[in-house]
Amino acid sequence: MQTIADPNRLQKLILDEKQKNKIIGFVPTMGYLHKGHLQLLRTARSQCDILVLSIFVNPTQFGKNEDLGRYPKNIDADMELAEREKVDIVFFPSTKTMYPDNFSTYVEEKSISKLWCGAKRPGHFKGVATVVLKLFNIVQPDIAVFGEKDYQQSLIIRKMVKDFNMPIEILTCPIVRENDGLALSSRNTYLSPEERSCALLLKKALDYACDRFYKGVREADLIKSGMENILLNGNCARIDYIACVNNDTLEPKKILDSADRILLAVYIGKTRLIDNCQLP
Ligand code: PAF
Repeated sequence: MQTIADPNRLQKLILDEKQKNKIIGFVPTMGYLHKGHLQLLRTARSQCDILVLSIFVNPTQFGKNEDLGRYPKNIDADMELAEREKVDIVFFPSTKTMYPDNFSTYVEEKSISKLWCGAKRPGHFKGVATVVLKLFNIVQPDIAVFGEKDYQQSLIIRKMVKDFNMPIEILTCPIVRENDGLALSSRNTYLSPEERSCALLLKKALDYACDRFYKGVREADLIKSGMENILLNGNCARIDYIACVNNDTLEPKKILDSADRILLAVYIGKTRLIDNCQLP
């Protein structure tokens, strides 16, 4: 396994591999790897010759009062996990190489990215799209794998790839959860033991929504108000949004259909967690 920090060096190396007809697989991350990331790496590994993992905490996707400064890091553990998952190249650039002082070009998806997390975190998806476009240009992957916990992000990346005619296949992996249902996230590390138990309410609310739908309830407002009751009952969670949406456009729905999606963002203490599920 090689670790490369210089984008030009990585670009050259990948071009050489592509000339040998090697398939390049890519998993972009911000590090502090957990089992959800490992699932992404395994999916990519099974479909490529050269597997590239990037570890870069991207400052442009964090808002002014968000957690950029305290985002968890453990590069030694990440390297060990990457080695174990048979990653070929870890791309670990510095902020200065990714965003030199004169950096001035950004990319913005103008439709899906304005909804939900995009509305609550202005500029977030512009930062995500910009860094992912840069990473795609450096790594030149044939396939790239993203997690469905950030479902909105995965749709925005797909849209960017389509709009810009990029020859990259985007794959997604289902959410990986702890045994008790908590969706894996690097941000779970911020939770105190009490907050961690409170965080289980997200999955409980999503399960409730699926169950109501399964039993024939179709009105989004009814399902949302039941979810609100569950989330607010413990007096430990603050709802950022609950959205009942079309799975492809993320437009809100009043009457739900099979395969629509429920998206959730909830503050547990100061930690903002997201989760989602597709209706049966
Ligand atoms: O999902 C993430 O970890 C980040 O948003 C990504 C895609 C690596 C871009 O910084």
